[in-house]
Amino acid sequence: MENEIIHLGFKAIDVWPKDREAEVCGDPTIRKITFTDIQEYHPRLVAKILELEENHRLRRRYSRGAGGTKIHHLGQWASSEAELITARATALFRRVLECDQAVVDLSWANVYRSGDYCMPHSHLRSTASVVYCLDPGDEDPEDPHGGRFCFVDPRLRNCCQEQEGCMTAPFLPGMTAGTMIIFPSQLVHAVNPYIGKRPCITLSWNINKNTLSGEPLPANAVSGENQNG
Ligand SMILES: [Fe+2]
Repeated sequence: MENEIIHLGFKAIDVWPKDREAEVCGDPTIRKITFTDIQEYHPRLVAKILELEENHRLRRRYSRGAGGTKIHHLGQWASSEAELITARATALFRRVLECDQAVVDLSWANVYRSGDYCMPHSHLRSTASVVYCLDPGDEDPEDPHGGRFCFVDPRLRNCCQEQEGCMTAPFLPGMTAGTMIIFPSQLVHAVNPYIGKRPCITLSWNINKNTLSGEPLPANAVSGENQNG
């Protein structure tokens, strides 16, 4: 099922790279893979997102602590690169959950500008969530954890290294450009405040084995405080 190919211009790209598997990342429920062919699609995908961020109907500016700016519904971007990375996200879901079906309930890009962050939260209506790092942004020499994605969930042993059930250590999966992780959607996670000139850009998908009824994104969501980051 994984020899699917997507064309970017005249170039055929394997949705799933041959002989690669996602590896366990800190906890058996979290898996991680870093794609190495990112030059084939990152430049155009970043350009697309920055264009959509300017002023597009799919763009929503949330409060700083709710993840900054989001651009939803990758399937509506008219972008082959967005199609490729979504195909990779659903392929990862099928591989890790060992199933044939993967239905995206909601997908979005997060564009973190200086001062943006995302408060701890879980994702609604979803079995597993995938997060992809398109650009980690500028490094902050004074804060190596700035702008970084982390799990802050007392159900993860990695987060409770001193006493079971006491969340004293955020777990950072360590994401560079091209890293994709998948995790149970109920795991509480956050993104630390980002300070930098270049935007930090990630992509997210909420995925289930089957289609859910109802709307994943309320049309009149204004503050977005409880929306996924
Ligand atoms: Fe999130």
